[in-house]
Amino acid sequence: MDVKTIGIIGCGLMGSGIAEVAAKSGFQVLIREQNEQLLKKGLGRIESSLGRAVAKGKLSAEDKAAVQTRLSGAVGLDDALATCDLVVEAVTEDAGLKQGIFRALDAICPANTILASNTSSISVIDLAAVTRRPNQVLGMHFFNPVPVMPLLELVRTVQTDDATLDSARAVGERMGKKMIVAKDAPGFVVNRLLIPYLLDGIRVYEQGLASREDIDNGMMLGANHPMGPLTLTDFVGLDTTLFVADVLFAELGETRFKAPTLLRRLVSAGHLGRKSGRGFYQYGS
Ligand code: CAA
Ligand code: NAD
Repeated sequence: MDVKTIGIIGCGLMGSGIAEVAAKSGFQVLIREQNEQLLKKGLGRIESSLGRAVAKGKLSAEDKAAVQTRLSGAVGLDDALATCDLVVEAVTEDAGLKQGIFRALDAICPANTILASNTSSISVIDLAAVTRRPNQVLGMHFFNPVPVMPLLELVRTVQTDDATLDSARAVGERMGKKMIVAKDAPGFVVNRLLIPYLLDGIRVYEQGLASREDIDNGMMLGANHPMGPLTLTDFVGLDTTLFVADVLFAELGETRFKAPTLLRRLVSAGHLGRKSGRGFYQYGS
């Protein structure tokens, strides 16, 4: 499959980044959001990121304009998505919501369209199983921020066929990503290792072992991480981290995947991290 047009469902932190990188790589990109306000916010995030790239001399004003002509956005899942060779779903980490979207995409898209999920933790075969094309479904797990992080983790289910994996790999290469292939097991490779580390960072803070700044500085200065665990959880989103922890704990049952109470309480309070202006730290005014 020679992918030319990519649909992106959900234009939050990840969907906006995937859409930006896809359009920069020459693909036609159709973005879909759940309402006008969130669509505007997501497109605004892409606009600012492209603007920053121009200001830094990494992208010319002409190239920015060309990228923008390849991007279009709308609300809801419509028949225009039938023109997509590949659709990457990047909505909120909720299995029921994602299954509903896969069911709808399966009804709209032609038989050869590949359906991918950017899920952090949800079993990809559970999404594939609601479609009539489980062999053409895989995980394409991008990392945040998508324009910067080199990795694309391809997740192969027991039913994903070679042609689908090859097409996804070709898309990743055109986007300039380095790829690893993981089995469809809880957390794949990266989140199986990263999420318990983030949860432990929160537990260390919850137990009062050190201040949030000292915990973060400890891991930045002592282990050379670009961000400490609390800053990184704010960056990923506390809601996303909690959803992922709950899936991993439910599937694996190990206490290292159990979400700390503090994380659950902060999410209930709407402190979702950088995207909501407040998480472990405060952002903006
Ligand atoms: N979009 C585009 N470019 C961005 C960006 C964004 N959102 N954020 C930063 N950049 C670019 C900057 O423009 C800058 O580019 P140049 O060097 O070309 O000027 C470069 O990234 C470095 O940025 P800064 O100097 O502003 O900041 P920094 O050095 O602190 O780096 C960072 C920022 C790249 C985010 C770095 O802190 C980092 O790597 N943090 C860890 C990120 C991480 O671990 N991500 C994975 C999260 S887990 C996940 O994604 C999986 C999951 O399922 C939950
Ligand atoms: P987010 O909350 O920033 O964005 C999710 C977006 O999905 C929102 O804009 C929401 O309006 C939209 N959405 C919800 N229902 C929709 C629907 N029915 N139709 C269209 N859009 C809908 O979350 P995010 O961080 O971008 O995460 C998205 C996915 O990517 C999740 O599966 C998450 O686990 C995964 N992921 C997140 C990260 C991260 O660091 N945040 C990294 C890799 C993968």
